[in-house]
Amino acid sequence: MLKKSVTPLLAVLLCAPAFAADVTYQKDIFPIWDAQCSACHGAQSPYIGDFLKDEGKYIKQLKGPRMDTYANLIYFVGWPDTGALMRRLDDGLGRADRKPGNMYEHLGDTDAERQANFKLFKAWVGEEGWTHKHWDAAGGVPGISRAELEKIKVKY
Ligand code: HEC
Repeated sequence: MLKKSVTPLLAVLLCAPAFAADVTYQKDIFPIWDAQCSACHGAQSPYIGDFLKDEGKYIKQLKGPRMDTYANLIYFVGWPDTGALMRRLDDGLGRADRKPGNMYEHLGDTDAERQANFKLFKAWVGEEGWTHKHWDAAGGVPGISRAELEKIKVKY
């Protein structure tokens, strides 16, 4: 009896950290990006350096900066565009106004799908590395610290 009820709990406890540690760009993140983000952030979109030269024009064409490779994506996680991915994809549940980032809606067609994909992105960056901070102090919030940067995982 005891064994029966304890086993599923143990399985959950043992799987949770493994899940977080095993999330990789190649296995988990690229497929989500390909399905949900590539239409506006794919190879047809401008490199961020070019995007910033004429943001208004590209936004009108529904083109965001290109994020079609690992290198082009982590630009928006650690540096130079520190925290951009986390601010834009956040589900907002940790905020007082519960307002999600403006790219959260693209994570899926249903609440369940958006939450599942959000959790994968969060596990990929790292629960503890999931910060909204910028590189420099902004809006009264200090810039990211070295210790906080070290919590970012983004495994390839
Ligand atoms: C319908 C088109 C569209 C889709 C789909 C889309 N985006 Fe975007 N995204 C944009 C546009 C346009 C911008 C630039 C305007 C803005 O900053 O909101 C942008 C901006 C961003 C930024 C901020 C970039 C910066 O300059 O700091 C991030 C990060 C981002 N998107 C991530 C994603 C991710 C991840 C997905 C998939 C889950 C996604 N987007 C899906 C159109 C889209």
